Amino acid sequence: MAVVKITVSEIKPGMFIVNPGISWMKAPLLYMQEGLITSHEEINYIIKQGFSEAYHDPDRFRRMEAFAEDPDADDTIWATPRAPLVSLDEELEQARLVYADSFDHVKSLMQAAQGGALDMAASQPYVESIVNSLNRNVDALISLSKLKSSDEYTYTHSVNVTIFAVAYAHYLGLSEDKLHLVGMAGLFHDFGKAFIPQEILNAPRTLTPKEQEIMQSHVLLGYNKLKKVEDMQSEILQGVVQHHEKHNGTGYPFRLAGKKIGIYGRILSVSDNYDALSAKRVYKTPMPANVALAVMYKNRGQAWAPGYVERFIKMMGIYPVGTPVQLCTGERGVVCRSNPSFPAQPCIVVAFDPVGRPVTPNVLDLYKQPDLEIERSLAGNEAADMDITLLLSQSCH
Ligand SMILES: [Fe+2]
Repeated sequence: MAVVKITVSEIKPGMFIVNPGISWMKAPLLYMQEGLITSHEEINYIIKQGFSEAYHDPDRFRRMEAFAEDPDADDTIWATPRAPLVSLDEELEQARLVYADSFDHVKSLMQAAQGGALDMAASQPYVESIVNSLNRNVDALISLSKLKSSDEYTYTHSVNVTIFAVAYAHYLGLSEDKLHLVGMAGLFHDFGKAFIPQEILNAPRTLTPKEQEIMQSHVLLGYNKLKKVEDMQSEILQGVVQHHEKHNGTGYPFRLAGKKIGIYGRILSVSDNYDALSAKRVYKTPMPANVALAVMYKNRGQAWAPGYVERFIKMMGIYPVGTPVQLCTGERGVVCRSNPSFPAQPCIVVAFDPVGRPVTPNVLDLYKQPDLEIERSLAGNEAADMDITLLLSQSCH
């Protein structure tokens, strides 16, 4: 069937807009941004920009289940803690490779973003390897997520968000095939940042209002590029376009609220915020994991629907595996096993005595030692003398 000309008021979610190749000079009010229309908010946005007509392709019409109001989004999804299939020690080596390969892949795909068509299929194996590693032992990739340096933040952030989002989606009970969609949304959630000038992207200061506007445009820049991809799944698009929306309607780009934000958008938003807060940046020391989770907890019900942050915290533990900590005795070490029933009493592999001398690493189970407790988690520079991955692998022997 040929493409059909319609007025903008006739555009409906699920329509695929096409560019008929008419010169802008001849039709300045024709909307020509090719791709899938996924929400009423997007249509309002097109109308507000002053466009009056568009062409759509009826053959490419798609039902938009993932963008309809999500009636189940607020219902309780039962959290499902998983038993590891292999030990942390066994998985760490493999997870290190998975992380490094995914990082290189994201870097090259974002650096090539300005070029030709996007090959989504090329990213599938990386997402699959992340899903598989998390299935074998969820703590391995999570503990590696905070170790990478800060100078290539956009790439580490994309990998980290993929890791947290897939782990969280599994915890929320999403099926295996949906984990892959969540992972793809994670890998591509900030794809639009490839089109933001470096001086704004990496500015070591507060952005001006104009710069903030440019920065925020990364959502639609990425989304518009992705929705042109043939057979793009709407779940991936939802995660990408909704990752900065907030439950109370103050997010962007469409100020969606409540159930208008679907489960993929919610999972991505929680994961994105956690990584952004706890990340190392050139201009800020990383916020310890427990502090980042506390900040998010304060915003529960505002930024996220009730229960979403709470369940994320339950999954991560107050002190996620890999967190460097100081005990009340002054000894320092790393959290090597969480205790979901008593999250303040995980297992610690101790590496330094109270006066800072290295000791042979030994594991303490705080649940079994009631006089011992974690005094605080350590900032990055206070843990600079610890080889966290080595300590984690030694903790299993
Ligand atoms: Fe973003």
